Amino acid sequence: MSASHTVEKQISTTVLVIGTGGSGLRAAIELSEMGVDVLAVGKRPRSDAHTSLAAGGINAALGTMDEGDSWQQHAADTIKESYFLANPHTVEIVARGAAQGIHDLERYGMGFAREEDGRISQRFFGAHTFRRTAFAGDYTGLEIQRSLVARAHQLNVPILDEVYITRLLVKNNQVFGAYGFDLNTGTRYLIHADAVVLAAGGHNRIWRRTSSRRDENTGDSFRLAVDAGARLRDPELVQFHPSGIIEPENAAGTLISEAARGEGGVLRNALGERFMERYDPVRKELSTRDRVALAAFTEIKEGRGTPNGGVWLDVSHLPREVIMDRLPRVYQTMMEAQMLDITTEPIEIAPTAHYSMGGVWVRPEDHSTDVDGLYAIGEASSGLHGANRLGGNSLIELMVFGRIVAHAAAAFSASLEAQPRSADALARARAEIDDLLAADGHENVRALQRAIRNMMTEHAGVVRDEDGLLAGLAKLDVIEERMLRVGIHPDIAGYHDLAHAFDLKASALAARATLETAVERRETRGCHNRSDYPDMDPALQLNLVWSPSAGVVRESIPEIPEEIAELITEVSTLGKLVE
Ligand code: FUM
Repeated sequence: MSASHTVEKQISTTVLVIGTGGSGLRAAIELSEMGVDVLAVGKRPRSDAHTSLAAGGINAALGTMDEGDSWQQHAADTIKESYFLANPHTVEIVARGAAQGIHDLERYGMGFAREEDGRISQRFFGAHTFRRTAFAGDYTGLEIQRSLVARAHQLNVPILDEVYITRLLVKNNQVFGAYGFDLNTGTRYLIHADAVVLAAGGHNRIWRRTSSRRDENTGDSFRLAVDAGARLRDPELVQFHPSGIIEPENAAGTLISEAARGEGGVLRNALGERFMERYDPVRKELSTRDRVALAAFTEIKEGRGTPNGGVWLDVSHLPREVIMDRLPRVYQTMMEAQMLDITTEPIEIAPTAHYSMGGVWVRPEDHSTDVDGLYAIGEASSGLHGANRLGGNSLIELMVFGRIVAHAAAAFSASLEAQPRSADALARARAEIDDLLAADGHENVRALQRAIRNMMTEHAGVVRDEDGLLAGLAKLDVIEERMLRVGIHPDIAGYHDLAHAFDLKASALAARATLETAVERRETRGCHNRSDYPDMDPALQLNLVWSPSAGVVRESIPEIPEEIAELITEVSTLGKLVE
């Protein structure tokens, strides 16, 4: 394993895309269709990227079910439910471009659910004014991923699976590629590129109960971007989805799609009460995610939860054919996880860390970052969701911004007269891997990852307070100190231990950014519930931008355009309960 025996492959491309989930593939497809040289690299096999887990749907104001819908109403709902932290320009771009995103998917062969006359079906998702969520059963993300992979194959887009990117290469604040290694063989990759699109997900795997699987959404995008000189926006704003399964322990947090509530599922506490009637009497189970999650949390905390610490989600009153047609994944998941038949029995659920609504700081118009030539999209980026994401908005975001970012990256490349290079930057990237491979300390990387997840669960969960957050930061200091003594041991099975060490660095950085911004957001807004500051503070209707050097800096949010603002109705905080 010594550096002298290291094999290093060198590749040059015009645009490097890091991440082969929906946003990365969508960008790569557009670049290829434009005739621009592109390479996509992912740490998982492309067919199994995290997008394949996305369940219930993708939003666009197509008006196929409710004619009154419009892109302006979609934008208004998104801004209102973001608790006014979404950037109106980002929202407008997504809402206006959403129909095109759906048509692109149809062009790639996506099998949307349809009405008998051929119209795309659209279902209700929480807090949408109209039925706006298109779907493919509750396998929408899987079907999107399959369609994107198929289109990328048609176009012969080069894709490297199971390659882990460890560092972006930067000279004078301009990116010129990335460095990484093959997870199976350890072969190093030096990839030169004029522009880089970061599409490597968010950081919700740093909580113990999460809808992400092992080794995904570990904060990789955040670390790569910050190490390159970029900043993060609102990392404290993490969406806890109301319905994650509780058992078995190794699958805790696995998502039960909001589609279950969209199709008519009801929530009950251990006393049999339909508790959402108390928290949001009008919308009940179709209230916003932050409210449903907080309501479930409160029921459990106040002693009305199930013996395992959950609440019941019941779809057993729905016709069996509706369940099999509209919720096949929920049915399969519960059969496989617990041998539970949801057509006859309720599901025990609790909130699960689900989505990073903050992410890498980007400009709304093209998702460029602070680093020239570096772009971020999808869950890696920020601007659309604010303090509460509407279900179904993430899948449409990646379709819209995948296309936009591709054009921006291609234009950036075309504007260059030469590509900068830095031998120092490359030497640092090589040395970072060499040093980790030489590390033989007694601290175990997996154990430290678990320590971060425990700490974040205890100190930065659904409800937070200053003392708890500061205690979390103190624990993080200790974990980071232990990280100096890790031992890394690649073996005959591959270099996964090395990848886990980089994941650990990423998770520690993401945890620090989250805790520090959560401390500074001294209010309760959307997903961010501060028991010591239970009200929304108008002075904090702004974004919090984080970097290691500057700490937390406040950023104002532009005015909402009139045609959207007039469709926004008052956000009521009635029903919010903070311990
Ligand atoms: O519940 C769900 O199906 C999740 C959808 C989303 O997060 O957009």
